[in-house]
Amino acid sequence: MDAVLVRWAPAVRTLYPGAVGDAIVYAVEGAGKRLRPALMLAVYEEAGGPGDATELGAALEVVHTYSLVHDDLPCMDDDDLRRGRPTVHRVHGVAAATAAGLHMVPLAARIAAAGCARLGLDARRTGEIAATLFRAAGLEGMVAGQVLDLEAEGQPLSADELTRVHRAKTGALLAASTEIGAVAAGLAGERRVAARAFGAELGLAFQIVDDVLDAVGNSAQLGKTAGKDARQRKATSVALLGHAGAVAAAASARARAMDHLRAAGLDSERLAGLTRLVVERQS
Ligand code: IPE
Ligand code: IPE
Ligand code: MG
Ligand code: MG
Ligand code: MG
Repeated sequence: MDAVLVRWAPAVRTLYPGAVGDAIVYAVEGAGKRLRPALMLAVYEEAGGPGDATELGAALEVVHTYSLVHDDLPCMDDDDLRRGRPTVHRVHGVAAATAAGLHMVPLAARIAAAGCARLGLDARRTGEIAATLFRAAGLEGMVAGQVLDLEAEGQPLSADELTRVHRAKTGALLAASTEIGAVAAGLAGERRVAARAFGAELGLAFQIVDDVLDAVGNSAQLGKTAGKDARQRKATSVALLGHAGAVAAAASARARAMDHLRAAGLDSERLAGLTRLVVERQS
């Protein structure tokens, strides 16, 4: 994954000269977990996909990384630390970081197109993958969730409302990741639906654990500022359910994810292992 992102860096600098290109390359080269591509690749390969889907995975990572660049901006979560380094706007300025995030959406589209071409996918499947990715990124997913997240600061949300925020801001892109792996491998019908549902529940578990780690982790371990959610009066699973309640909610979401994984016929060591990692990770 890192090699693919590095391969795109010269093209990025040519397309976006100056500070914006520098900001994009800085953002994507940060040491992220690469979880979304890892999930997509695992589903693709476990479903029998024969090609190299790494470049398609890079498109998911670019969308995710853009969401982090904007999430950290002063007008959003106002964070100084990301992936163990100063945030993009801290290094390259708010204007370049904002522009970088905006440009990373069409950049992801180019990378997705190249990734689909590399896999030899036809126009119909390529279109379905693009629709799945960009619906998840936009007003049916991540952007909507981020808007709700900001509006929820200091507000008492119900458990259902908080789950809706988590499913949108984080779950949607994980659901798209597993669905795209399934579509690229040629899964259709109920198996495709189950593969998507696996990612959706895993995404919910992922955000609940993110909230728990913010509350109990430290900044060195997380590579981002710990303890910020409480300071910013964020609506989180820990604020709503307490530590034990949040841990239990993550375990329930993981169990539902595993049910969907079995329904998709994809219950492999590798995908069960990634599922465990999402819930048991310490960073
Ligand atoms: C952080 O995502 C933002 C959330 C959706 C919770 P990750 O924890 O996957 O961040 P990186 O990619 O590893 O930096
Ligand atoms: C962000 O959630 C989800 C995104 C879509 C980026 P958070 O605001 O909790 O993510 P972190 O904790 O800053 O990584
Ligand atoms: Mg946020
Ligand atoms: Mg944040
Ligand atoms: Mg968080």
